Amino acid sequence: MAGTTSPVVDIHTHVYPPSYIELLKSRTSIPYIRSFPPSESLRLVILPAEDTESTSRGRPVGAEYYDINKKIEFMDKHDITISVISLANPWLDWVPAEEAVKAAESINNEVNEVCGKFPGRLFAFGTLPLSGGKEVIVKEIARLKDLKYMRGIILGTTGLGKGLDDPELLPIFQALQDAKLPIFLHPHYGLPGSVWGERANDYGHVLPLALGFPLETTIAVTRMILSGVFEKVPELQMILAHSGGTLPFLAGRIESCIEHDAYLKAEGKLGKGRKTVWEILKKNIYLDAVVYSEVGLKAAIQASGEDRVMFGTDHPFFPPLDEEGGKWASVETNYAAIKGALGSGTSAPIQNISDELHQFDGLKAASPSGGALV
Ligand code: URA
Ligand code: ZN
Repeated sequence: MAGTTSPVVDIHTHVYPPSYIELLKSRTSIPYIRSFPPSESLRLVILPAEDTESTSRGRPVGAEYYDINKKIEFMDKHDITISVISLANPWLDWVPAEEAVKAAESINNEVNEVCGKFPGRLFAFGTLPLSGGKEVIVKEIARLKDLKYMRGIILGTTGLGKGLDDPELLPIFQALQDAKLPIFLHPHYGLPGSVWGERANDYGHVLPLALGFPLETTIAVTRMILSGVFEKVPELQMILAHSGGTLPFLAGRIESCIEHDAYLKAEGKLGKGRKTVWEILKKNIYLDAVVYSEVGLKAAIQASGEDRVMFGTDHPFFPPLDEEGGKWASVETNYAAIKGALGSGTSAPIQNISDELHQFDGLKAASPSGGALV
């Protein structure tokens, strides 16, 4: 943002490293990349809902998806000082168990090396070898902790295949807490196709992206709350994509349903020691600002606190459909929402939001001057 003097840190920004792109090109089922004759241009198809005629099968995949120089160009164009890059969905969820460790190690090393090419400008969230099982996941977390530019991990909502309320995940959450690596929780799977009805094909990507993604995140994190993850791993830190889906808006209703549930009461789950949804929002949850409106952003700020909301872009997704070369409307809309939600000062909103990165021990980094990340 012109005139901003404090650093702007984008914590929601993706890459598909070249080796991942090659993997996708070798595949014929989701996720895959291929051209659809007569057109020769390559298309990226990652969501079940976009593997249809109406969505022209996925989206065009250009250099901005894998070329780090394009990321830096985008950052410069939008006055972003630092990006914390993450592999985009569906990560390594689909990799066969026996290939998971190798794939995670090589992708994480590749991303870490790329960050090293732009010191002080790029950090990253790593990717876990989820299909490889608990032991190898915990090992990769230990390795990530020692990779210079890693500041957390990106995670989808399926976990080991049974969702994030799976007790089998507790040692993994514990390892992340101990390593002070926050989880960046990001949706991918949406809701079952039947929810969208018979005419879903007439509506492009809108329903799965605008509603499926945020509801998926909301459900995943609510299941974590209900299963007691945040009591069992009390210092676990999560950054929720898209301002937590609908969690800030629904927190009161979720809380009320919990307090009025006879089954939970009979099971002794409502007593002292239970963390409320509001407490979890303020202690364990950070929200990104990728919600495109003042209304949503104000809810996020009210729910988690101004110091727990962080700037994001979702680059390279949501590029302008028409004109090329200018600023992206998706980014400008978020800047305007932040400015509107936080009030008067021109630079304060971005500063307030982006500066919060340094509050994570796990996000601390040596800057060229030896100081903290921001
Ligand atoms: N679409 C995706 O598949 N992923 C994103 O992160 C954003 C849009
Ligand atoms: Zn994203």
